[in-house]
Amino acid sequence: MIHDPNEAGLPRDPSQMSSDDLSAAADTDTGAPEEALHLRRIRSFVTRAGRVSTGQRRAMDELGPRFVVPYAPEQPDWDAVYGRRAPRILEIGFGMGATTAEIASHRPGDDFLGVEVHEPGVGALLKLMGEHNLSNIRIIQHDAVEVLENMIAPESLDGVHIFFPDPWHKARHHKRRLIQPKFVALLVSRMKPGAYIHCATDWQNYAEQMLEVLGAQRALENTADGYAPRPDYRPVTKFEKRGLRLGHGVRDLIYRRRPNS
Ligand SMILES: C[S@@+](CC[C@H](N)C(=O)[O-])C[C@H]1O[C@@H](n2cnc3c(N)ncnc32)[C@H](O)[C@@H]1O
Repeated sequence: MIHDPNEAGLPRDPSQMSSDDLSAAADTDTGAPEEALHLRRIRSFVTRAGRVSTGQRRAMDELGPRFVVPYAPEQPDWDAVYGRRAPRILEIGFGMGATTAEIASHRPGDDFLGVEVHEPGVGALLKLMGEHNLSNIRIIQHDAVEVLENMIAPESLDGVHIFFPDPWHKARHHKRRLIQPKFVALLVSRMKPGAYIHCATDWQNYAEQMLEVLGAQRALENTADGYAPRPDYRPVTKFEKRGLRLGHGVRDLIYRRRPNS
């Protein structure tokens, strides 16, 4: 994603809102004080209104019952959910799902679990699944932190994708960034030894934070010397192309959980 879609003349798609937009919403967020929550939560998103298109709604009605897994604080039998046992990749914050659908279509032997809070995004991914006849994706519309805590078994994931997470530009909002030590520790606990985590961002300051946080997690090892080359499986999105033309560098980071960790 680029930081200001308007600057690039793009329509303001809610899933592509800049984190300054999100910051404005966060500044007026009057949610419960963190101490009141049973765990100190990373509130990495604000709930945004967004119109679900007719096509997205139809996809939700027709395909939702088959491919959307309702959030519940318990672990489903994932083999039964997918109807097979295959390498399982979690994607956090898939936005409108274009990257998810493209990767899943090129990796039919892998199963993907997309977690996203934004309803139009869920509709958009289901629509793409219908158009491309994809059956190796399941979707949970819920906060990924709670999904990881409650629905994903320890040492069960083969990979994790986090592409262009909200960068939360302002320093006072950095605590809302997903990639921070506590969250990474939770993620690693759900990854199999040898599993990979792949993050990408176009925000330099966040890329540096990712390097620092992932690098400090002893159970992880960097697959590259610093930033990684973009692997072929991650397509360049149209927003990324525009961002690249505007001079935003995109960084990929790929770490593995040490096999003996
Ligand atoms: C900047 S967008 C990037 C979307 C997409 N990955 C892309 O590359 O275009 C970040 C997305 O993460 C979602 N998100 C942020 N925190 C989340 C959380 N805790 N659980 C689920 N989704 C989350 C937001 O709703 C948003 O759609």
